[in-house]
Amino acid sequence: MSPYKYIRNCWYVAGLSHEFEINKLTGHRIAGRPIVIWRNQSGKVVAFDDRCAHKRFPLSKGRIMEDGTLECAYHGLRYNDAGKCVSIPSQPEGPIPKQAKTNPFPIIEQDGIVWIWPGDPECSKERKPPRTMEVGDDDWESIDSGPMAVPANYLLLIENLLDITHFYPLHDGNIGDLDNSLIPIKYEEGEVDGNKYIKTIREVDNYQQPPFLSDWFLYDIVDRHHTHMMMSPGLTRVVMRVAPPGKLGSDKERGYVLLHTHTPIDEKNHIWRWCVSCKKNHMSGGNKKVSAAKRVASMFPNVVEEDLWALEKQQEMFEFADEGYNELFLKPDKALRRARQIFLQMMREEQVTFAV
Ligand code: FES
Ligand SMILES: [Fe+2]
Repeated sequence: MSPYKYIRNCWYVAGLSHEFEINKLTGHRIAGRPIVIWRNQSGKVVAFDDRCAHKRFPLSKGRIMEDGTLECAYHGLRYNDAGKCVSIPSQPEGPIPKQAKTNPFPIIEQDGIVWIWPGDPECSKERKPPRTMEVGDDDWESIDSGPMAVPANYLLLIENLLDITHFYPLHDGNIGDLDNSLIPIKYEEGEVDGNKYIKTIREVDNYQQPPFLSDWFLYDIVDRHHTHMMMSPGLTRVVMRVAPPGKLGSDKERGYVLLHTHTPIDEKNHIWRWCVSCKKNHMSGGNKKVSAAKRVASMFPNVVEEDLWALEKQQEMFEFADEGYNELFLKPDKALRRARQIFLQMMREEQVTFAV
């Protein structure tokens, strides 16, 4: 039994904008809820309960008709894009019962990302989705992984992302770098648009970059500014900025913005996406013909495989009762400990029952 559940009153990533084509129905499971999402004929993304009001048939298996209504594939009830039934083939004379409707979910599309609020719609105005400016910006090249199903609670991924002390040994051989974990950490906490965040900051001068970073970002010796930030339970943002000593902030600066989106399916599964953005005109050091974004993105799948393996194995161990087991927190675990506290507090606010 996993000790963690999930938060519903939160904006989560349903997908990147390019994942939603006009009139193409997509079925999702988000925070324990079945949801059908699609982009309507006017380009707006809409979402509602994936269960037909008639006999629970998944509406995502239906089709969009010429007039823009969604037709259920079982008995043909048709819904408008607000989730209201507007036609029933077996009783053409009507009436259409009031309860012939399915509940809509709030959606916000901004900065190249479609966000959904699977919780109480009344509460959705209290928070806004975090901004992700680089994703929709023409000056940046962004490459994303697409959705990856992870058989683990999403908090385990967030904790993994806030913890770079696992680069060695888990990522030994690719991004493994023990020196990196020894850089002193500064912490910052706050709230933006109703989302509590926790951020770690690592700054070093005259730093000898490991070979893979020289390959991505040109230089061997750099000043480096590296941050990991849980912006909300739906998004973690990693920013790396490097430049020759004394040149951070100048046109010599290189680096990336790396977004990780974590959307809970249920208490033991989530969808993970990464999206890396580099300035469009930045080429990699390892291959001057390949952009920095492409070079970074080509290396990520191996790293992700290792993290996926760790998360899955970690989740499996939650099947056992604690029976005297006590989790150990080390000094560098401060950020993930705070992330966990923020989660627990948000869950309490929702009065979702969970065991710790
Ligand atoms: S289940 Fe959808 S129309 Fe009957
Ligand atoms: Fe990792």
